[in-house]
Amino acid sequence: MSHEILIGLMSGTSLDAIDAVAVDLHNDSVRLIHAIEYKFPEKLRHQLANLITQHEAVNLDHLGAAHRALGLAYADAVKQLLAEAKLQPDDITAIGCHGQTIRHQPDSNPAFSLQIGDAATLATATGITVVNDFRSADVALGGQGAPLVPAFHGHVFTSRKRDRVIVNLGGIANITVLKKDADSTTGFDTGPGNTLLDYWADKNLGKRYDASGSWARNGIIVESLLDDMLADHYFSLKPPKSTGREYFNPAWLSRHVEAAGPEHKAVDVQATLTALTARTVADAIRNVAPDGDVYLCGGGANNTLLTEQITAALKPQTVATTAELGIAPDWVEACAFAWLARARLRHTPGNLPAVTGASRPVILGAITAP
Ligand SMILES: Nc1ncnc2c1ncn2[C@@H]1O[C@H](COP(=O)(O)OP(=O)(O)O)[C@@H](O)[C@H]1O
Ligand SMILES: [Mg+2]
Repeated sequence: MSHEILIGLMSGTSLDAIDAVAVDLHNDSVRLIHAIEYKFPEKLRHQLANLITQHEAVNLDHLGAAHRALGLAYADAVKQLLAEAKLQPDDITAIGCHGQTIRHQPDSNPAFSLQIGDAATLATATGITVVNDFRSADVALGGQGAPLVPAFHGHVFTSRKRDRVIVNLGGIANITVLKKDADSTTGFDTGPGNTLLDYWADKNLGKRYDASGSWARNGIIVESLLDDMLADHYFSLKPPKSTGREYFNPAWLSRHVEAAGPEHKAVDVQATLTALTARTVADAIRNVAPDGDVYLCGGGANNTLLTEQITAALKPQTVATTAELGIAPDWVEACAFAWLARARLRHTPGNLPAVTGASRPVILGAITAP
């Protein structure tokens, strides 16, 4: 049996882990062979968090060191993945590595989206060709450089019978709309996914995240705070649009919480933030695909309170996870970057101008040989 195995590496704005997958893309199928979650070494996680949150005071030595250290961490993740899957470097066509976004400014002039994680380090340490820097070409053509997963969602998840919406609940949430009778895939970032939830859980509980939303479940939604946050202009912007922690960050949250007054309990704010993600995702879906079947992916699909609220808000639309469509929710995004790497090797465009706003389709990614 023939195979065409690529590796996808994804580490998103949540800084939770490096997701590493090996996928067989033979004959345009997408078959997940093995997947691991590689926890960031604590020191590297701090280095990256500092670059992201202290961006105005970034020291170039720290930037350079993190760039290399992340390349080595990616290589470690790949080696662990290969060992567990009993694969050799020679079995792998290429690694598609998203890199770590340290700054995403698609609306500044000039616009940019900056990912780090040294490709030469990764390629030489593993002996495998690396494709990375997926966002620059789209940005160079006036696009947001994001989201890039919709083309992959279109490839694997389109149905000719039903409209479908794929919702990626990462640090930032994005949706992809797949109409049954049209080949035009659309999509955009809806706003915060887990990023504010994670920040608030860390600040108040000292935990990375509110597991299953169980803390928020004890809180009461503060309607005035929710309304105030929902009034943010991002939510009413027309697509194409993308966002990041540059905008939906602790300062954004503090402004709203302070405006709501001092009397609110932390747990009630967490409940309100959960409702904010659920409401903005559901509102976006109802606007663009009121009849679509909805499939959730990304780490937020494990937050049962959040998924219950999305389901309730969208009733009678059905809401499930991408596991129903053959790819477990935690691995969809990493699979997308393996697939985008293959598109690069085939000289096929990977962006969707209707999604990113770029002036034309373009081949995405830079190739680094070992
Ligand atoms: N069991 C869980 N309960 C609640 N939230 C979870 C759970 N597992 C993961 N998450 C959330 O998912 C996030 C990671 O999601 P991920 O899709 O990896 O995002 P990113 O692409 O930004 O890295 C975590 O930071 C956390 O907020
Ligand atoms: Mg992640």
